[in-house]
Amino acid sequence: MKHFINLDDLSSKDLNQIIDSAIVLKKQHKSGQINQTLAHKTLAMIFDKSSTRTRVSFEAGMAQLGGHALFLSNRDIQLGRGEAIVDSAIVIGSMVDAILMRVSSHQDINTFAQNANVPIINALSDESHPCQLLADMMTYKEHKGDIQGKTVAWIGDGNNMCHTYMQAAQAFNFTLNIATPENYQPYPSFMEKYASHVRLFTDAQSACQAVDLIVTDVWASMGQEDEQKKRALAFKDFQVNDALMLHAKSDAAFMHCLPAHRGEEVSVSVIDGKQSLVWNEAENRLHAQKALLLYLLS
Ligand code: CP
Ligand code: NVA
Repeated sequence: MKHFINLDDLSSKDLNQIIDSAIVLKKQHKSGQINQTLAHKTLAMIFDKSSTRTRVSFEAGMAQLGGHALFLSNRDIQLGRGEAIVDSAIVIGSMVDAILMRVSSHQDINTFAQNANVPIINALSDESHPCQLLADMMTYKEHKGDIQGKTVAWIGDGNNMCHTYMQAAQAFNFTLNIATPENYQPYPSFMEKYASHVRLFTDAQSACQAVDLIVTDVWASMGQEDEQKKRALAFKDFQVNDALMLHAKSDAAFMHCLPAHRGEEVSVSVIDGKQSLVWNEAENRLHAQKALLLYLLS
């Protein structure tokens, strides 16, 4: 049994296979082919934070594969009222075929993996967001080809998305230039572990020199809303705008996991401009995760 808690839980070979399979599944879906491989399978989806893309893509994906997805908001299940994590993991795991979790604490996902007897999928934690990277890598491949040997710039917060890009840099063998304000760097343990593929910068311009892809994310993640003002000040020189894009290669792409705050981490001209792949990137959550579900469940 396999889990998908961090991107590098899976080998590079398996990650590449999932992406190739996602590209095929996308074509099949668009041509109207029916795929019922996950008939009678149930996915439990535990959310203690908001979601548009993750929830809709997993729920639609399970339906398209003939299975069923169960949306479990923390407000409604006993976990949210303090039932022990271990007890919840044993009980839910005894009834479904896989469990997806979007929770604040990465450790809670590990606890589920240790106690529920089914595959666990991390649908975003404080540490990482591996499902998003499947879609991002798929999107790059569709539009630009192999990402191996390319250079990607991560601009902004050294957050869960940044951590997962660091894991992707190693898994897919590209160089990641990270530019963050001083107090917003990625976890030191990640800097150490992925050092061979990652370079840290203090200014966005240097990080973007001749890169193939620029990626950013919100300045205040879910749960950090009360730091919004302080962060807006700290991140003011880290907006991805036309001037910054000029430092990258002329055919560089732009990605953002969304939701985005136009005028903060990205200008309107970039996110809605010709180099932006954000809509395809969002749609590909569906196809990439269908491939992931088939990999974990069939
Ligand atoms: N990118 C992403 O995970 O979006 P949601 O928060 O809408 O799921
Ligand atoms: N870093 C963001 C990503 C949302 C998909 C957050 O954690 O809120």
